[in-house]
Amino acid sequence: MLEVVQICKRFGGVTALDRVSLTVAEGEIVGLIGPNGAGKTTLFHVISGFVRPDGGRLRFAGREVIGLPPHRICHLGLARTFQIVQPFTQMSVVDNVAVGCLFGRRDGRTDVRQARDAALRLLDLVELTGVSTLPAHALNLSERKRLEIARALATGPRLLCLDEAMSGLTTAELDRMVHTIRRVHAELHLAVLMVEHNVRLVTRTCPRLVVLNYGQVVADGPTETVVRDPRVVGAYLGTRSGAGA
Ligand SMILES: Nc1ncnc2c1ncn2[C@@H]1O[C@H](COP(=O)(O)OP(=O)(O)OP(=O)(O)O)[C@@H](O)[C@H]1O
Ligand SMILES: [Mg+2]
Repeated sequence: MLEVVQICKRFGGVTALDRVSLTVAEGEIVGLIGPNGAGKTTLFHVISGFVRPDGGRLRFAGREVIGLPPHRICHLGLARTFQIVQPFTQMSVVDNVAVGCLFGRRDGRTDVRQARDAALRLLDLVELTGVSTLPAHALNLSERKRLEIARALATGPRLLCLDEAMSGLTTAELDRMVHTIRRVHAELHLAVLMVEHNVRLVTRTCPRLVVLNYGQVVADGPTETVVRDPRVVGAYLGTRSGAGA
């Protein structure tokens, strides 16, 4: 469904992505890990159309998508969350999601009541029903991360890209977030590509891992194999204290 082929991206002298290739199949759940600055967020920017790559090919849902603006890629069924969550802070939680539902409609129709109903169903899925009428600025970090997921889901994706949905959460919140991501994946039958620093959580959630280091894919395969790969241990697991805990 998503096919990334030899993607390159440079920022001045920094090579953020160096011939990155990976695929994500329909309904798959894949973890993308790697040290700070490895290029994970840049890859998300490229596949969602926010940053144009210097080279390589990118196919999503059977189409070449390089050069398409982010909203067109979104309408093809690719949604992403941002590492820094960015809701409309003055708007209520439900309206934040309803805006996404309206935007996600491929037929251009605007039925606000239907959008609100759809938003409430998504808030139930991510366990935010109790705060649906609050302004988004009143939410704590864990709730803002859930809202960000609901807003991405509102556009009706077939592939959901999550950029550090779990960073900064407490241990109890992390367990709930793993549960939520699994539930979203199972109930909406979508593929998930998730960037995550917490290796324990990502290994629990994803049967397959892709590892980036200095902009290059250094491993890609079943999670049990990848976490034992000496290059991965050397590049990432062995050098980041607590990452494997
Ligand atoms: N807009 C930009 N301009 C210049 N350099 C950039 C830009 N965006 C990213 N970079 C550089 O590209 C490299 C990859 O950054 P990126 O944010 O993709 O890493 P990351 O894997 O998401 O890291 P983190 O785990 O810290 O979020 C880094 O060296 C970063 O400084
Ligand atoms: Mg990042």
